[in-house]
Amino acid sequence: MAEKDIIILGVESSCDETSAAVTCNNKVFSNVIAGQKIHELYGGVVPELASRAHQKNIIPVIDRALKEAKVKKNELAAVAYTNGPGLIGSLMVGSSFSKSFALALNIPTIEVNHLQAHVLAHFAVKDNEEDFLPPRFPFLCLTVSGGHTQIVLVSDYFEMKIIGQTRDDAAGEAFDKIAKIIGLPYPGGPLVDKLAAEGNPLAYKFPHPKISGLDFSFSGLKTSVLYFLKKEKEKNPAFAELHKNDLCASVQHTIVSVLIEKLIKASEQTGIKEIAIAGGVSANSGLRNALSQMKVDRGWNIFIPPFEYCTDNAAMIAVTGYFKFLKNDFATQDSFPFARFAGF
Ligand code: KG4
Ligand code: ZN
Repeated sequence: MAEKDIIILGVESSCDETSAAVTCNNKVFSNVIAGQKIHELYGGVVPELASRAHQKNIIPVIDRALKEAKVKKNELAAVAYTNGPGLIGSLMVGSSFSKSFALALNIPTIEVNHLQAHVLAHFAVKDNEEDFLPPRFPFLCLTVSGGHTQIVLVSDYFEMKIIGQTRDDAAGEAFDKIAKIIGLPYPGGPLVDKLAAEGNPLAYKFPHPKISGLDFSFSGLKTSVLYFLKKEKEKNPAFAELHKNDLCASVQHTIVSVLIEKLIKASEQTGIKEIAIAGGVSANSGLRNALSQMKVDRGWNIFIPPFEYCTDNAAMIAVTGYFKFLKNDFATQDSFPFARFAGF
């Protein structure tokens, strides 16, 4: 390791994944993620149960991340943790642990905005990755997660401007809620993706929202699927089960088309062809394929994160922490997490 190498422990606990990562500069040495299966029983994340699972998982996950990285605690330069947005109880587990751990080691803490980290996941290099080519500033990033849908104009690591966002449901939320309407278990997004691969994306036509500008709306799609299935089930109660592949393919096709339409508009308005996607929904194969096609159709330079950096992970938190470390942007001891996103 070179003299100036900065080793950071990243901690993510904003929703239902407890994750810890160790990075050296922007290189990921380890990225351990513990999911929480308990929520499947309830068809969605139960905040109180999430906090408890974080409390149970956090030490083993961190211990494993340090061991996998072959890094000793005294080699850490700082602890970076998600301080929002997210479930407040879950965030408090991660932030309390991080602050205490850093105090014990006499090293600084770094607060990381979860949505900023999803964007900066593009700068995380896998330990063995060659030919790493991150996006060049300025670029556009479509951040599509369970709670947020944003088109972000990224001028520098910490110069981010939202130029479009959802007015109601987020794209991930739309996937999850519509999956539930179809009768699929939680979390629906990855399952819709899987079943869509076996279905016809043009089997059913669902309306696109009529929102001008770069904003999104997904609640209308949810309602139209609900009414469509209600009508069909009156004729045949097994309709959704019989046609779930076509339903998933059509829903996915609609969501992806809406996302791509707005990205095209954003690219035209800004003149930027350096285009990235981030957040849990960027794991979606329909979105990944549609974006790859834009490289051919529109000459975009596209950036799709590796799967493990799409959904919630601590590697993106540690890497964001590294860039903040370079700016001496450290947290104070009395910092407190926040639940709602209020801008970058
Ligand atoms: O970024 P993320 O892991 O957590 C939040 O910050 O919200 O995003 C989670 C969301 C969930 O709504 C999940 O269903 C969705 O991402 N998701 C997917 C896929 N993988 C995860 N949606 C569609 N297709 C996928 N393959
Ligand atoms: Zn996320």
